[in-house]
Amino acid sequence: MYKINENYLKLPGSYLFSNIGKKVAAYKEANPDKDVISLGIGDVTQPLCPAVIDAMHKAVDEMANAETFHGYAPDLGYEFLRSAIRDNDYKARGVDIALDEIFVSDGAKSDSGNIGDIFSVDNKIAVCDPVYPVYVDTNAMAGRTGEYIAEQERWSNVIYMPCTKATNFAPELPKETPDIIYLCFPNNPTGSTITKSQLQEWVDYANKVGAVIIYDAAYEAYISEDDVPHTIYECDGAKTCAIELRSFSKNAGFTGTRLGFTVIPKELKSNGVMLNSLWARRHGTKFNGAPYIIQRAGEAVYSEAGKAQTKEQVAYYMNNAKVIMDGLKNAGFSVSGGVNAPYVWLETPDGMSSWEFFDHLLTNANIVGTPGSGFGPSGEGYFRLTAFGTYENTLKAIERIKSL
Ligand code: MLT
Repeated sequence: MYKINENYLKLPGSYLFSNIGKKVAAYKEANPDKDVISLGIGDVTQPLCPAVIDAMHKAVDEMANAETFHGYAPDLGYEFLRSAIRDNDYKARGVDIALDEIFVSDGAKSDSGNIGDIFSVDNKIAVCDPVYPVYVDTNAMAGRTGEYIAEQERWSNVIYMPCTKATNFAPELPKETPDIIYLCFPNNPTGSTITKSQLQEWVDYANKVGAVIIYDAAYEAYISEDDVPHTIYECDGAKTCAIELRSFSKNAGFTGTRLGFTVIPKELKSNGVMLNSLWARRHGTKFNGAPYIIQRAGEAVYSEAGKAQTKEQVAYYMNNAKVIMDGLKNAGFSVSGGVNAPYVWLETPDGMSSWEFFDHLLTNANIVGTPGSGFGPSGEGYFRLTAFGTYENTLKAIERIKSL
């Protein structure tokens, strides 16, 4: 008799955003006349920019022609895209990353889950609390997190690093030594950031204790302050301890199109074994490559027109973030984030729990947000609103919240 992966049975409930999606669908079905505004999942609302659309059209036409048709993509991704990534995301910032250290993929969500394939099940992970749920869920699926303790809403074998108001929503170095450290800056869900010197402390710590940092930089395009690093490789010694995950979803609207990449420097070794080789082996076997049309679309993000147009989109969402921040502050809420990230993190009013506030907002203002407790125990009493809505809906939502 075949056996299932029983680790899946330990997972409490559904994936956070599936759970919310079901609740919202039920609410809409029961209230078909209500104008529900979603400021919940961080999904973009602006269309792909013209430079990207033009590149996609051109690539579609190429696929219609025997001379220019493309089948399987190269394992690591097309060189035209990896060169654009190397030159714009790294070389332009004074960081030297080689082409064969860049692995093009179908997005940072997949990579942040799949990267666990190259690590032993015996590793102990450390995560920020609250945290993007994919990191913990996928480690739980792999059997790396121990048992789920329902009363505490935490796993027995995970090092939680509380990110609270007292720490400016940044983690402190853990007392217990981890093997794998997940960091995400600008942060999802709190919208917080750390400075380059603070990130340097993490890099030094990881090198000292022999841990690897999985650094999720999906929100890098939203950085507005000078002392916030755009890539972990701006820090000295990061190449011997860090993997970086990047995405085209949030900066260029690829949430539906899917494109991302992971950087694994060749200096990153465990007992002399290069993680880069392991990931290349996995990538070659388990991934057919992001489609040619999508990789051409990604390349266009780095064209002069693409850069200008995607910058405008980021500015559009950051203007929404300001509308949310200012509106909520005026309404007496305590808010953070929203300056270097498209997420605003607010304290729930009147001692409401995160889920109570979710229900309150949905039923009384027809607004969908994300309960902070869904991201981890320290998120209880907090709530996340995303700036990825349309400007009009964002204004409308804030007016509704003010009049609650
Ligand atoms: C979020 O809302 O946290 C993100 O959009 C989810 C994701 O990027 O997968």
